[in-house]
Amino acid sequence: MPRHLAGTQAAPLSVAIRWPAEAIWQQVEPLLPGFTVEVLPELDSTNSELMRRVRAGRTDPVLLVAERQTAGRGRLGRNWHGEAGASLTFSLGLSLAGADWSGLSLAVGASIAESLDPAVQLKWPNDLWLRDRKLGGILIETASFGEGSAGGGRYAVVGVGLNIAPRPAQGLSTPPAAVAELDPDADAGSTLLRLAGPLVLALQAFEQFGFAPFQARFQARDALRDRPVTLSDGTTGTAHGVTEVGSLLVHTAAGMQAISSSEVSVRPAGASSPRS
Ligand code: BTN
Repeated sequence: MPRHLAGTQAAPLSVAIRWPAEAIWQQVEPLLPGFTVEVLPELDSTNSELMRRVRAGRTDPVLLVAERQTAGRGRLGRNWHGEAGASLTFSLGLSLAGADWSGLSLAVGASIAESLDPAVQLKWPNDLWLRDRKLGGILIETASFGEGSAGGGRYAVVGVGLNIAPRPAQGLSTPPAAVAELDPDADAGSTLLRLAGPLVLALQAFEQFGFAPFQARFQARDALRDRPVTLSDGTTGTAHGVTEVGSLLVHTAAGMQAISSSEVSVRPAGASSPRS
């Protein structure tokens, strides 16, 4: 049965959030036997919590939702800010086989964008965008468990943060986008219900076939395609989509480059530095 540990100690000012944990469990458990849904009022970070659990030997599939994170983490060591009720913050933890995980965050992004709205775009490698503003982000972490090939494996923690309600710019040059712009009735629970089942199916497809089946799906929503871009090392060029392993193709003065490093960030030329 699912474990529902929903917000008995919700943070001050937070609204009561309805979490469709049972409905999500019913969709996902047939795909992932042993799957549980856990909703907590507060955590430092859902990714950090699942990484602690896997290091302690807990490798069951789980969807962990925090109504509020006190130390949410983004890519490249950035913070991830989100308020209870105004954002959706969760991590899906599961064992994932496969030798090549390149492109995993792009595949996750494609699945989430498709579940949300045709207007949602993807900014390589892990941002969800709406009308050139950040709607959400993905942070994937992995850990090995067990002993080598005899029963060991790899556990993936797929962390997703989405802005649900509009919020002020808070030092950003433009305010972030929000799911409520697409559907004024959306809340964190209804949004999670839309995403969870398709996300698990996407991860299982990725496990079997790698990034290849997601390449066209990513390209269809590629926010950078044919745009001038600046890489974090100062290189400039024009983005030309992604390769079959999810590397970003950028045509620079030195020719076409395939950018795969997780340490590189990229932004449309003229835009300020990317932040959550
Ligand atoms: C990014 O845009 O840099 C990635 C943001 C990922 C944020 C999510 S919120 C749920 C999960 N827990 C975290 O601490 N981070 C991810």
